[in-house]
Amino acid sequence: MTTRASVLVTGATGNTGSRVADRLVALGHDVTPAARRPTDTAGARGVRFDWHDDRTYAAALRGADRAYLVPPVGDPDPAAVMLPFLEQARAAGVRRVVLLSSSAIPVGGPGVGQVHAALADGLVGDWAVLRPSWFMQNFTGGHLHAQSIRESGVVSSATGDGKVGFVDADDIAEVAVRALTDPVAPDTDLVITGPEALSYREVASVLAQVSGSPVEHRQLTYEQMRERLIAAGIPGAFAAMLADMDRSIAGGAENRVTGTVERMTGRPPRTFRAHAERALAERVRREGPRA
Ligand SMILES: NC(=O)c1ccc[n+]([C@@H]2O[C@H](COP(=O)([O-])OP(=O)(O)OC[C@H]3O[C@@H](n4cnc5c(N)ncnc54)[C@H](OP(=O)(O)O)[C@@H]3O)[C@@H](O)[C@H]2O)c1
Repeated sequence: MTTRASVLVTGATGNTGSRVADRLVALGHDVTPAARRPTDTAGARGVRFDWHDDRTYAAALRGADRAYLVPPVGDPDPAAVMLPFLEQARAAGVRRVVLLSSSAIPVGGPGVGQVHAALADGLVGDWAVLRPSWFMQNFTGGHLHAQSIRESGVVSSATGDGKVGFVDADDIAEVAVRALTDPVAPDTDLVITGPEALSYREVASVLAQVSGSPVEHRQLTYEQMRERLIAAGIPGAFAAMLADMDRSIAGGAENRVTGTVERMTGRPPRTFRAHAERALAERVRREGPRA
């Protein structure tokens, strides 16, 4: 281990935060897992933290010298709460911040791109901005796609034949841990992908092969996708943004792979097939084999 760090992990019940917290605890670092409904992580005591309630900031920051930040999900203007939080974090002794953004959001771009710009301007000191591609867990976890696949064997999108460098949240977490704990911080953004770019049709085909059940991709228009997201309870502006991202994928914006996982962790990123096989094995362990 490098030096023992004290790390605030926000979004600690979510896809990447839970994995980051688990790994940091296993490596012997002090961890404060934080979320609105926090849970303890392998002995690390969870604290209640709400981006929209600044009374929860001080307890979350107590003793922390580093922070992993998952933005408030669905908030169209995360900088409005994240920038004042970062000022408070710096005053409380935080010297390194690793921010979760997205491959689709450049520095200075909308939403979390503003927080990215502030970190690059030296707001806190050492930093990294993780810009992962779409998560493999979208198809196997609690996401709308995963629910739809489980319920009806259909994954719907407006992505056409566009490809995405889907990445496993475990790989994102491993990059995050290196960025948080390496002696020298990246001080840059890191675009993180899996080993191959796949279309949603190819994803459906892998899922069908691995599960032995039919899975098909249903192509929607931008408007149909937006309405589908709204019907699932996602607020209109956020649903429009997500549907627009599908349209960008259709245009080829996410058709790329990077060497970030291998460079940061020393091993290649996990494939989608390996992810699907592991997720199926975990489900069978939990629920037993399907009739
Ligand atoms: N899914 C993808 O394909 C993808 C791709 C690239 C980037 N991203 C980015 O990854 C981030 C996380 O997305 P996700 O879908 O994977 O979600 P997630 O991390 O699984 O869940 C969100 C986490 O944040 C916490 N949280 C939500 N709102 C909060 C608030 N107001 N205050 C404090 N904590 C809050 C949640 O816990 P509580 O509800 O208990 O607070 C949960 O732990 C998003 O910023 C997204 O843009 C996602």
